[in-house]
Amino acid sequence: MILVTGATGQFGSKTINHLINKGVRPSEISALVRNAATAQNLRSRGVEIKVGDYKDYDSLVKAFQGVEKLLLVSSNDREAVENRTVQHINVIKAAKEAKVKYIVYTSFVRKTNFKNSSIAAFQNSHVETEAYLIDSGIDYTILQNGIYLEMIPVFAGEKVAETGTILFPAKEGKASYVLREELAEAAAHVLTSEGHKEQIYSLTNSASVSFFEIAQAIGDQLGKDVKYQSLEADVFESKMKQIGVPDLYIGLFTMWATAQAQGTMEVVNDTLEGFLGRKPTTMPQFIAQVYSLPGRTL
Ligand SMILES: NC(=O)c1ccc[n+]([C@@H]2O[C@H](COP(=O)([O-])OP(=O)(O)OC[C@H]3O[C@@H](n4cnc5c(N)ncnc54)[C@H](OP(=O)(O)O)[C@@H]3O)[C@@H](O)[C@H]2O)c1
Repeated sequence: MILVTGATGQFGSKTINHLINKGVRPSEISALVRNAATAQNLRSRGVEIKVGDYKDYDSLVKAFQGVEKLLLVSSNDREAVENRTVQHINVIKAAKEAKVKYIVYTSFVRKTNFKNSSIAAFQNSHVETEAYLIDSGIDYTILQNGIYLEMIPVFAGEKVAETGTILFPAKEGKASYVLREELAEAAAHVLTSEGHKEQIYSLTNSASVSFFEIAQAIGDQLGKDVKYQSLEADVFESKMKQIGVPDLYIGLFTMWATAQAQGTMEVVNDTLEGFLGRKPTTMPQFIAQVYSLPGRTL
């Protein structure tokens, strides 16, 4: 039995689709969800639904009974990064108690100098989880996933077609954006093939891109000039405040833009390509898909 956590989220649900596409029978898959009512689609496909919360240890031990392999999708808790570490450790401890044999963990791509970056605290939570998993005695694979291509429309802003401008304080920094769908496919590959135990994989695209290139690609799709302006972080933040963006999001945008400016996600290798058996979707291909959809929201 393979259990996927975060199964009603995007990464988890896509991984389950890929497991089924790779020939795993739905009856051999179970899905950890917080609210069973949101998992009807999975249930109707024959996937077993287990209810559990990363914050509720006993619910996890119960949910993990009979599980051989577990995909731990990192928590999306935005309140405090320390919360995430505690939640992940709960999952690993509970898996050990339930005698799970193998855990695949979705971490985040990182460079050795990550401690000097704007995402140091966020990265620390992954570092601590990885260390706990490695010391747990359970077989593991760590997937250090690159930043999702799907974040680009969020960072570019929904009004880019109207204004022809992207405001984002990423300077000239580059990042290796990668499609979430393909990272989920890679997770399913690791869960269904041999040779991945005690491995740490950095899963990235084959090129890193700047927001100058992103603006150019969006402009090409929209058939208009799109300019990229990298304002100083404080000027960016007050502009965002003026247009009513909530403080939580302003903080997150500045944090990710600064990380890109610092080059902390500028990591390129061909591991993902090897797992997929094809080139990963590039930034311009993704932009062409998103910005040419009928009825799109930009
Ligand atoms: N690489 C990147 O660029 C990037 C970007 C964004 C996020 N991430 C990370 O990658 C993870 C997966 O991405 P995603 O796009 O699938 O995010 P997502 O759609 O927000 O899914 C996150 C999943 O985690 C589950 N979850 C959160 N807290 C939980 C808890 N206390 N107990 C049990 N389940 C819990 C959620 O459950 P519910 O369905 O019940 O809410 C949801 O299913 C995220 O959680 C985040 O850590 C990576």
